[in-house]
Amino acid sequence: MKIENIPILPAYFGVTNVGVMKNWKPKVDEFFYAPNLNNQYSPTTTITEEKAIHKMPSWKPLGDIGLKAANQWINMIGYEHELFITSSWINKYTPGDVVYKHIHYDSFLSGVYYFEDCSSIVFAESPHKSLFVSGIEKTQEQTFTYTPKAGDLVLFLSYTHHLTLPSDQLRYSFAFDCYPKNMNFTEKYNEYKFKLDHVKANLQVDAKGNRLISDV
Ligand SMILES: [Fe+2]
Repeated sequence: MKIENIPILPAYFGVTNVGVMKNWKPKVDEFFYAPNLNNQYSPTTTITEEKAIHKMPSWKPLGDIGLKAANQWINMIGYEHELFITSSWINKYTPGDVVYKHIHYDSFLSGVYYFEDCSSIVFAESPHKSLFVSGIEKTQEQTFTYTPKAGDLVLFLSYTHHLTLPSDQLRYSFAFDCYPKNMNFTEKYNEYKFKLDHVKANLQVDAKGNRLISDV
């Protein structure tokens, strides 16, 4: 599949359109008949109690597409890791809902699939040293906004801060977290360790995300 790799320095995010899932609405609605957990990052949105949706027969094809894209994309940005999905869930947004800025802990790469056009997702790097003016170091947060279309699959490194802008109507998305098979998932998430790894990998790609070194 063709994945567009967009540098949002110092990270990247990937996006590809994998098509709209057939008959998705009744399948999604089944999850929301039962009470749902509150999303800790949002006052109003809900997420499914089920966290292994990618293993359910009717959802496995979508999970497989997400995992295939995730593996392809991390290779584009310089990793040799092979990923597996650790968890997956569905987000439900009612009109006006927002999700506050957050990262995904205990995860290496995260993805979101949009069943239909959706309100924007904003990627934001924490304030970092970016400007030097008159010898005074200033900090500035870099943001990148993407407005998903129906069928879009968005991929990002899990340490990338992100938030969503207010939803204009009832919306659903399918989200999943991935972890490298060759790393010990029982290790506690270590942002510092991952960032070093990610930064190292980013040094091996050009501004378009093409790898500069083929065999390391
Ligand atoms: Fe998120």
